[in-house]
Amino acid sequence: MNRPTLPHSFVQASTPQGTTPGYMPGFGNDFETEALPGALPQGMNSPQKCNYGLYGEQLSGTAFTAPSHQNERTWCYRIRPSVKHSKRYVKIDVPYWKSAPHIDPDVISLGQYRWDPVPHTDAALTWITGMRTMTTAGDVNTQVGMASHVYLVTASMQDEYFFSADSELLIVPQEGRLRFCTELGIIDLEPKEIAIIPRGLLYRVEVLEGPARGFVCENYGQKFDLPGRGPIGANCMANRRDFKTPVAAFEDREVPSSVVIKWCGQFHRTEIGHSPLDVVAWHGNYAPVKYDLRTYCPVGAVLFDHPDPSIFTVLTAPSGVEGTANIDFVLFRERWMVAENTFRPPWYHKNIMSEMMGNIYGQYDAKPKGFVPGGMSLHNMMLPHGPDMNAFEGASNADLKAEKLDNTMSFMFETRFPQHLTRFAAEEAPLQDDYIDCWESLEKKFDGTPGKK
Ligand SMILES: [Fe+2]
Repeated sequence: MNRPTLPHSFVQASTPQGTTPGYMPGFGNDFETEALPGALPQGMNSPQKCNYGLYGEQLSGTAFTAPSHQNERTWCYRIRPSVKHSKRYVKIDVPYWKSAPHIDPDVISLGQYRWDPVPHTDAALTWITGMRTMTTAGDVNTQVGMASHVYLVTASMQDEYFFSADSELLIVPQEGRLRFCTELGIIDLEPKEIAIIPRGLLYRVEVLEGPARGFVCENYGQKFDLPGRGPIGANCMANRRDFKTPVAAFEDREVPSSVVIKWCGQFHRTEIGHSPLDVVAWHGNYAPVKYDLRTYCPVGAVLFDHPDPSIFTVLTAPSGVEGTANIDFVLFRERWMVAENTFRPPWYHKNIMSEMMGNIYGQYDAKPKGFVPGGMSLHNMMLPHGPDMNAFEGASNADLKAEKLDNTMSFMFETRFPQHLTRFAAEEAPLQDDYIDCWESLEKKFDGTPGKK
């Protein structure tokens, strides 16, 4: 696939990628990058005068006093400090982007739900206006919980910029290609990749190939991290080197522009006279990142039985309760099934965590039909779910030879908090009214006869 070149307005740090977005490998690394030589101060953060007449500015992603191994901040050297804006903040209405707590008294969230893909319309929708909240969980004001969204984006943001003070955004494209022009560099994103945009980082989103649809997990809590691998050891699952952070890229454009800020669940706008993507150089460990899901190395049962789905965790955002995530991002992708004398699909269960799933492409093994690419499902806190009748009968009677699950990529946003449906999810999105019927035809097989299978 050809890689689209950068807009002419940008000056990017020199990379082997040349005129397309360049990246640096690693997750949580302490990076340094400069788009002009000598723009980055050496040996100190805040010289009396920065080179090129730049302003030094720190972006703190954790409290100043966070423990060293969790402390995240980035030093930016920019053309103008980001406090420079000409108007007071005014509230604006973004009606489809909801934040927790958002409990609509007319909407029932207790249930098993599944949706077909939310269709595109003829409307010109940007990253902001095209966000459709499906569920909310926890409380944005106390920085716990999350929201799940579907985005439908057909239009690039024009001289408009956005940041969320509430959350980091985990973005999972399903259709189309988007470009995230951020203060710290440029990320191009397409299906089979994910990106994380940190809390407080300013960016605009351009459509490279539309229409674009995908899923967003808005994390109100502690940042996503890689899960501990325990006895698995130092390799497999998601490896640090496969995460890519953009190199510095800036533009110096004097043009009337607006900045939209999501803050405590509400949206505000202010005006500025320039592009705020004017960070010439930066160093630090608080930065956007993308990851190719095709590099995820799944680990599973190689003799019998079926591990918990947490074995497929890509990223985890801790809640403060040890081992209990605010959010786990879990990936169900192509893999070999080899377990002997085993019911191989996910088993029936009830879970204290609540599970929002989405299908990126292909067929999911527990639901051969009905859960289609672009579709979502929700199995909420302590509500039973599992394979449908076709999956159960097929897996119970299958010849258990080694089998490759091919052409399959689904994911789960799993949170310790119950997820509440928005009115959009309950009434406007294509909810499948007959979803629970997929379990209706499961038969009683028990008749008291020992040894019957
Ligand atoms: Fe489940």
